[in-house]
Amino acid sequence: MSDERPNMERRFEVSATLDQDSRSDSESIKIETRDLNVYYGNFRAVRDISLKFPTTRVSALIGSSGSGKSTLLRTLNRMHDAIPGTRITGQVTLDGEPIYGDNVDPIMVRRRIGMVFQRPNPFEKTIFDNVAYGLRFLGKLSKSERQDRVESSLKKAGLWDEVHERLDSSALSLSGGQQQRLCIARAIAVEPEVILMDEPTSALDPIATHNVEELMRELAKTFTIIVVTHNMQQAARVSHTTAYMTMDEDRAGVVVEVGPTGRIFTNPVDSRTEDYITGRIG
Ligand SMILES: Nc1ncnc2c1ncn2[C@@H]1O[C@H](COP(=O)(O)OP(=O)(O)OP(=O)(O)O)[C@@H](O)[C@H]1O
Ligand SMILES: [Mg+2]
Repeated sequence: MSDERPNMERRFEVSATLDQDSRSDSESIKIETRDLNVYYGNFRAVRDISLKFPTTRVSALIGSSGSGKSTLLRTLNRMHDAIPGTRITGQVTLDGEPIYGDNVDPIMVRRRIGMVFQRPNPFEKTIFDNVAYGLRFLGKLSKSERQDRVESSLKKAGLWDEVHERLDSSALSLSGGQQQRLCIARAIAVEPEVILMDEPTSALDPIATHNVEELMRELAKTFTIIVVTHNMQQAARVSHTTAYMTMDEDRAGVVVEVGPTGRIFTNPVDSRTEDYITGRIG
């Protein structure tokens, strides 16, 4: 044991309230990848990734730029299909069912697995219409059902109090932090089971970041969340499990280590993980 361990514990105030180690390995798994490889043309961007993402938990993906975090995240809801020249090998399952099966509709997958991006991307529509956007895919809802759904989504996203008197204003009139919470409201309005977040707070100030982090912890009570972040403190604060990724000699992204966040940040097994989280590399 090096003398650095206590420092690492202090440096990353791993949230005690997350109860990170209390669940056993038999906990239910929402999404699993098995031997996943992802290619852009001939370039392999991620290699042999086998990861399990537990149900109603926050899983963090950390690692240096180019290590394939966004690529991996996009394959989890078939967002990757939209990029020409890409291909995957291996398997991704949602509740044990392959999402790349021949008879699987990618639109259905994306409805069950929503996504929030690095830069808030509200549509040039009203606040109301942004949140209501995906509801038409859910079949016929009455006007009051739509209104209820928009209101509850904005409440869950912690934005209702700030916007309920201006639902007909343009979403573009909101601040960056509000826009990001609006995008989260839009993602949860269709009641997905999983929310993928790619550096959701990197464009936000500390207060807006704090709000979104609080929200993530709240949302994890009902949703499964997978978040990519460059912010080590954030991973330590909000996630239950953390996977550290790096690049191999061919620049393919690989997972070095995965485990309960508390352990990864205080007692990593692999020296590369320790170097990264203590800021020696990356
Ligand atoms: N559309 C694309 N076409 C070709 N190569 C791509 C494409 N998108 C990403 N890549 C390459 O795949 C590798 C992984 O990229 P990716 O965006 O997944 O990394 P990342 O870990 O998310 O990085 P960052 O932390 O900078 O966001 C990189 O080498 C990148 O250049
Ligand atoms: Mg990325």
